Amino acid sequence: MSYQSIQHVLKTAQPGPEVTIKGWVRTKRESKNAVFIAINDGSTINTIQAVAETGQLPEETLKLITTGACLAITGQLVESQGAGQAIEVKIGSVHIYGPADPDKYPLQPKRHSLEFLREIAHLRPRTNTFSAILRVRHTLAFAVHKYFNDNGFFYLNTPIITASDAEGAGEMFRVTTLDATRPPLTEDGKVDYSQDFFGRETNLTVSGQLEGELGAMALGKIYTFGPTFRAENSNTTRHLAEFWMIEPEMAFFELEDNMNLAEDFVKTVIRYALQHCADDLAFLDNRLKEEEKLKKKEEQSDMSLLEKLQFVISNEFQRLTYTEAVEILVNSKPAKKGQFQYEVSWGVDLQSEHERYLVEKHFKKPVILTNYPRDIKAFYMKQDEESDASPGRTVRAMDVLFPGIGEIIGGSQREDDYEKLTTRMKEVGIETDALWWYLDTRRFGSAPHAGFGLGFERLVLFVTGMGNIRDVIPFPRAPKTAEF
Ligand code: 4AD
Ligand code: MG
Repeated sequence: MSYQSIQHVLKTAQPGPEVTIKGWVRTKRESKNAVFIAINDGSTINTIQAVAETGQLPEETLKLITTGACLAITGQLVESQGAGQAIEVKIGSVHIYGPADPDKYPLQPKRHSLEFLREIAHLRPRTNTFSAILRVRHTLAFAVHKYFNDNGFFYLNTPIITASDAEGAGEMFRVTTLDATRPPLTEDGKVDYSQDFFGRETNLTVSGQLEGELGAMALGKIYTFGPTFRAENSNTTRHLAEFWMIEPEMAFFELEDNMNLAEDFVKTVIRYALQHCADDLAFLDNRLKEEEKLKKKEEQSDMSLLEKLQFVISNEFQRLTYTEAVEILVNSKPAKKGQFQYEVSWGVDLQSEHERYLVEKHFKKPVILTNYPRDIKAFYMKQDEESDASPGRTVRAMDVLFPGIGEIIGGSQREDDYEKLTTRMKEVGIETDALWWYLDTRRFGSAPHAGFGLGFERLVLFVTGMGNIRDVIPFPRAPKTAEF
């Protein structure tokens, strides 16, 4: 039996034709003369109302039409008598695919808490909030591919199982075929990976950047978009153990070009979502307004979700160096009153409380911080020659900071000088032999190049206005998440 999506029916259909729609019951309401069934099929946030006259449907059918049941309804599209919708389906026939026992089905037509929904993550896509988030997520992913395709980038697929630690931070999940309880040992008591399937220690990738750089040094402009893994403490509202990262890498780009690209890129994909997810974003905007009302007056946001998104796409991001930012933070009220949990001084890695102070309180707009101290950044970043600090003390790094999120993008110009790169690797204890293939880009036809990584879930978090990163990925991987 063919059918039409509810999105299509609501958008294009006029009263008159017969249609078949298929979907899940959201609500059923009975009046003296009629029964009203609201159906949603996931194609849109909107439901379509199907109406039968009282007595038209057999009692046993009617009993099975409860919230969560899956139905096909065939009937004529007619002008709706009720408020809130232009058309409805005058039921001709109903087929029940699968009932949902109302005593057992966990989703009822009321507002469930996000904590409860996280416990039933396998069913939460059937709620308005989560289906809206997942459609926005899809649209943003599509916009990412479209942006890069429109701008001459090639999509490069980088490995998920890898022997290298791209960030040099040791936050990897190990992948092994060895028996973890009885691994073979070398003479000096270490695990003998030479007997492993890959012949060496392997892990899930933390970033596709190093391979991305190989791509850029051949294809000019590339981007990756794939899952990445971090074995770090992911018990926060901003961290996942498994997240999707978008990493463009461009030959002949310097730090300034990198910043321009990052700003244009995020603005363009947010604009695309605003244009193509209007209904879903209006729903999420309302949802957030309701949530804000429950907060204390002084904690309420002065902008709605839609206003915030508009604001970000129509204002220039504030650009300043790390050194300038530290100066602002050190002289800020919270620092003087001892209100930051972590003290701030030149050389420390900024915490999200500091990043959010700069963005939300000081500049009141997205910020790009550049030229971070070398010692708190990854080994591959290009050392500064002409920054406000002495040579080599800072690197050509950039972090893009967003309201409510903190760091959304991290990137840099890369060290393209073979000697400087290998010297730095040795200083921080990274084996140059293991990364011989990476170093070959600096030995043969090296060129200035730059790139960045955008955490996809942090972008979805920002655009949907949600507060917890576990609520913007269908199947979150983090401690204590649902088991599938
Ligand atoms: O700053 P990060 O660690 O940078 C890199 O991985 C570089 N290789 C990127 C590059 O230059 N190609 O991570 C980049 C972004 C962060 O800004 C953040 O948005 C996101 O990835 N991210 C996470 N998102 C969710 N959960 C986590 N545990 C994340 N760790 C980083
Ligand atoms: Mg970072």
